Amino acid sequence: MSRISRIKKILGVVSRYRLDEFVDTDKLPTLARTGLKLIPWRLRTAPNLPRGVRIRKSLEELGPVFIKFGQMLSTRRDLLPEDIADELAKLQDDVPPFPQQQSIAIIEQALGDPVEKLFKHFDATPLASASVAQVHSAKLLTGEEVVIKVIRPDIEPVIRQDIALLHTLARLVEKYLPEGPRLRAVEVVADYENTILDELDLQREAANASQLRRNFEDSKLLYVPKVYWDYTCHTVYTMERISGIPVTDLSQLRAKGADLKVLGERGVEIFFTQVFRDSFFHADMHPGNIFIDASNPADPSYIAVDCAIIGSLSESDQYYLARNLLGIFKRDYHEVAQLHVECGWVPPQTRVQDFESAMRAVCEPIFERPISEISFGQLLIYLFQTARRFGMEVQPSLILLQKTLLNIEGLGRQLYPQLNLWDTAQPFLEHWVQERYSPQSMLKKIQRQAPSWLEQLPLLPDAVMENLQHSRDLEQSSSLQQRRLDNFQAQLESGKRRGKYRTLAFIALLFAAAAAIPNSANLLAQAPPLTWLLALAALILYWRSDSSD
Ligand SMILES: Nc1ncnc2c1ncn2[C@@H]1O[C@H](COP(=O)(O)OP(=O)(O)O)[C@@H](O)[C@H]1O
Ligand SMILES: [Mg+2]
Repeated sequence: MSRISRIKKILGVVSRYRLDEFVDTDKLPTLARTGLKLIPWRLRTAPNLPRGVRIRKSLEELGPVFIKFGQMLSTRRDLLPEDIADELAKLQDDVPPFPQQQSIAIIEQALGDPVEKLFKHFDATPLASASVAQVHSAKLLTGEEVVIKVIRPDIEPVIRQDIALLHTLARLVEKYLPEGPRLRAVEVVADYENTILDELDLQREAANASQLRRNFEDSKLLYVPKVYWDYTCHTVYTMERISGIPVTDLSQLRAKGADLKVLGERGVEIFFTQVFRDSFFHADMHPGNIFIDASNPADPSYIAVDCAIIGSLSESDQYYLARNLLGIFKRDYHEVAQLHVECGWVPPQTRVQDFESAMRAVCEPIFERPISEISFGQLLIYLFQTARRFGMEVQPSLILLQKTLLNIEGLGRQLYPQLNLWDTAQPFLEHWVQERYSPQSMLKKIQRQAPSWLEQLPLLPDAVMENLQHSRDLEQSSSLQQRRLDNFQAQLESGKRRGKYRTLAFIALLFAAAAAIPNSANLLAQAPPLTWLLALAALILYWRSDSSD
């Protein structure tokens, strides 16, 4: 679809659902305001539907890229009002599958052989089909059952075009919606662009899966299907086929007798392990991507597919998260606020007491509820909202983590409603903080760094000398700058003074001239010495102005 017809379609949707009603027309330039008033769709009454439904239906009509965008938006509960977020969460991207001949053509072109030669069996009917990719099952010549993921043909230009439109819409939203700036639409679209473009590269997804698999190789908690690299490239990803129970299929899990409490707790444990031990977490914890191996019902484990979106935290983000969660759950808001200032997350002039009382105000009502109802994800949303208000830049990786945490909680509580996340998380976090900052781990860190420090040791004297010289130069240049600045200021002052004296001299001269006019009506002319006096005053003032340099 060309860009023009896409824009026409968007305008059609805007008019059908009267999305223009959400615009703050006072903020519009006059031309646009008048234009909007003249547009005939304003005669059409708005559909009698809540605003969330109007937005959801609009996105549905705009197609898969917008639908996925809406799904992603629904997880930004830190930005969106609840009614809209709830409605957007209902979006389903059930896209019709693309013809099997196209799948086969893509596989054959990517892997360089006809499908019959590549596989013992290839199931042309897709197992699943979504907006970016489609999945087929097959059997390798060596007998292994596999699943092949194929990127939808010609999807990339469509995505790029729609993303460009979304960027434009985001700029408009930020500018012309009453709550525009708070919605951070431009940032949200940029974030979405990154994730959807990541999904287009299956080699990258396979590499993520391969890393996640290795991270949990020695653990019984999580299994990730093996990648068949000989049958994988940017557009085709071949992996081991797994047979698990979808995590949301509670009746099947119960029928198997799976221990749901253990499952719920293990979900939390896996998440915290990924975040803190590996700093590599699966960030698309969509129920369709998680399966359960309940072959041993008392010891059930997880299987994860779809590793396109992976999150990773820097050491300082890990520290931020662990210390703050511990602080919040101990209800030690003072510590939370102090940490923010000490670590430079908020500006140094922030008043600790203000931050502390803001956190207390949002957290205390939450802690009124039983711990099994408290949402970690929600607490993080509050923490980020407060920190933002005090000037902190919340990193996108932390937002991704918070969204994933909400998903994990949702899943965990679906499995076991009384799940007490804190019971699992607290020992984990305390242990992590202790371990990370224990003398032993500091020693280990030093040991790890030592070879590179040793290597750089011979360069140290030179570097020190260079630095000394540099700071001396800097000192000299800064005192030179200071002198220049002082000079400049002095000149400015004397200029001002000179101007003042000259103005006074001019006025005195003017009066002297007036007094010199022989006219009976001229009061000044009645006293002739006045002319001389004024002329003298003008002369003195002029002389002062010259000597005021
Ligand atoms: N290794 C696998 N074994 C069995 N089924 C799989 C496997 N990988 C994916 N699937 C099925 O295909 C669906 C879509 O795969 P997924 O990788 O999640 O694609 P998408 O990125 O389109 O969501 C999954 O929800 C799952 O049902
Ligand atoms: Mg998926």
